[in-house]
Amino acid sequence: MTKILQKISIVILMAISLQSCYYDNEEYLYPDLPGGECDTVNVSYSAVVAPIMAASCNSCHSPAAPSGNVTISTYDGLKASVNSGQFWKAINHESGASPMPQGGNKLAACELKKIKAWIDAGAPQN
Ligand code: HEC
Repeated sequence: MTKILQKISIVILMAISLQSCYYDNEEYLYPDLPGGECDTVNVSYSAVVAPIMAASCNSCHSPAAPSGNVTISTYDGLKASVNSGQFWKAINHESGASPMPQGGNKLAACELKKIKAWIDAGAPQN
């Protein structure tokens, strides 16, 4: 009888210790939070950079009416802006360029890290 009780308590203890392995840390669930994980390795123009531009920039920087004569919605336009150095200064709110997106919040820290990684890789059309 005591052996059965021992076995039951071992099973219960195992169940409890397994449950504590469940990882619901908010930094893990919301990687954009400061200090959270930010994947700067798998960054491509098509999967990462272009969607951020579409969400925050293209409304004012498309070929039809490019604000400040800057086109961001096409790869060639973006690449030209990157090469001029104004693009990074603008989105990182550095002196020497107007802070972008104009009238909006600075891009999330993780988005900036990803874009920086892409620029450092030579801003490829991948
Ligand atoms: C609400 C409209 C609007 C949005 C959204 C916007 N821009 Fe602009 N942008 C402008 C205007 C207007 C100018 C030209 C006047 C100026 O420089 O302030 C400009 C200028 C620029 C310049 C040239 C800055 C310089 O000083 O040489 C760059 C680069 C740029 N934008 C990039 C971006 C990027 C990247 C985004 C998205 C993160 C973005 N913009 C979002 C309106 C916008």
